[in-house]
Amino acid sequence: MTNYKQLYPIIGIVLLSLFINSAKSDTPLGDCFSSRSTWYEAVEHGNCGYGPLTGETGPGNRFIAAAATVLYNGSAVCGECFEVNGPMGTQVVTIVDQCPDPGWCDTSFPHLDLSPEAFAVIGGSGVGVTMTTAKKVACDYVTGNIKLKMKDADTTASWFEFMIFNHKVGIASVDVETADGKTYSLPRRLYNYWTFNNAAAKFPVIAHVTSIYGERVDVYIKAPTGNQISEGEGQFSAPKDLKLTNTNCTAPLSVDPSGWIYNDGLVKPLNYSHPNLGWTDWSNGVTVNWADASTGGGATGSSKTVVSGSMPVNTGIQIGTDLPLNWKGIFTNLEFYIKGDAAFSGLIVQYSPGTEIPTPVTTTWTKFSYALDTDMGAPESLGKPTVLKFRTGGTAASPGKIYIDKIRLTPVAASA
Ligand SMILES: *[C@@H]1O[C@H](CO)[C@@H](O)[C@H](O)[C@H]1NC(C)=O
Ligand SMILES: *[C@@H]1O[C@H](CO)[C@@H](O)[C@H](O)[C@H]1NC(C)=O
Ligand SMILES: *[C@@H]1O[C@H](CO)[C@@H](O)[C@H](O)[C@H]1NC(C)=O
Repeated sequence: MTNYKQLYPIIGIVLLSLFINSAKSDTPLGDCFSSRSTWYEAVEHGNCGYGPLTGETGPGNRFIAAAATVLYNGSAVCGECFEVNGPMGTQVVTIVDQCPDPGWCDTSFPHLDLSPEAFAVIGGSGVGVTMTTAKKVACDYVTGNIKLKMKDADTTASWFEFMIFNHKVGIASVDVETADGKTYSLPRRLYNYWTFNNAAAKFPVIAHVTSIYGERVDVYIKAPTGNQISEGEGQFSAPKDLKLTNTNCTAPLSVDPSGWIYNDGLVKPLNYSHPNLGWTDWSNGVTVNWADASTGGGATGSSKTVVSGSMPVNTGIQIGTDLPLNWKGIFTNLEFYIKGDAAFSGLIVQYSPGTEIPTPVTTTWTKFSYALDTDMGAPESLGKPTVLKFRTGGTAASPGKIYIDKIRLTPVAASA
């Protein structure tokens, strides 16, 4: 006899997962762009004026971001949502704050400083910085009508200011129409309030709130009483007919997709605008010339080589990146050319704590290629920096200069 009862839990699970999937992908409002994220702890009371995140005027969740100056755009971006794609996952965040950090945020790069909860989803919490892609989306979690909150102090009929919250898409402008038929266009402050500063307005007034897509929702304000919340007559819709060409964002590689680490210079693959990112010189005890043109390169077309002075005992050329390196399924080997002014048998190549490969140096260029079969950063050790060392074995100094060229991670396609 068939036991039909068994079907119910299965159907329940299917419906639940359909619901979760549809809730996960918010309506795209922009194309993917390259971004970068760090995280910060003081997430309550951001510059957008929403107060505590789960308070009366907050987004009601802790998935938020502070936008770099270029994105913050004088508070125009407040309350808008972005989907952020990092190496560990994807998370939609609401902009509630401006990121003030001069190093990360005061550049032309669209950096997003995330709450710890959001960063844990997209990047893990170890290194503290990750490259991402992002796109603007509708805040599909928002329910009910848009709302307005009058400032909590000193408001009068001739000076009052308010903040708009609980809106699905960005706000472009606010006009106030008074009971005697006058209309005023209000300026927006850096702290996301709209200010009325004129002859006394006759109340009730109507705030005409226009979205960045030209839709208008009205909010009736009975009196200029401080701290009052007024509910709007509706909610904005997310336009579906935007001509978007690239909304399928994938998390970027933290390194150059063709694998170059050194190619006539250390490679900084993405639009990095911070010295900690990309491959950089982490050498220990030796001074490295990263653009030596005194000897021919190790491969055709190469004009410069990495060269160090002779390496004292326990020193070496080190190249590192603060970002975890995701190599599985993308790169197969570490390859490089090497030679010395004199033969040297004490060189160790090390690209993970457990990998120490003795590598003979001769006076002619020789290519080596080592399999990346052990961890070189992410995904297993997300949170660790990646470092590549060419160092002395600890018993002898190199008898002359060591030259290295064309250091690369071999892409899967190139090795097939
Ligand atoms: C910045 O905000 C202004 C409105 O204040 C808007 O016109 C402009 O399009 C915004 N810039 C971007 C890049 O979104
Ligand atoms: C989105 O990108 C992924 C990974 O590149 C690909 O597998 C998928 O088919 C793409 N989806 C669409 C709708 O283009
Ligand atoms: C870097 O910036 C340039 C110019 O803005 C742009 O064309 C390019 O696509 C960017 N590269 C990445 C990886 O985002």
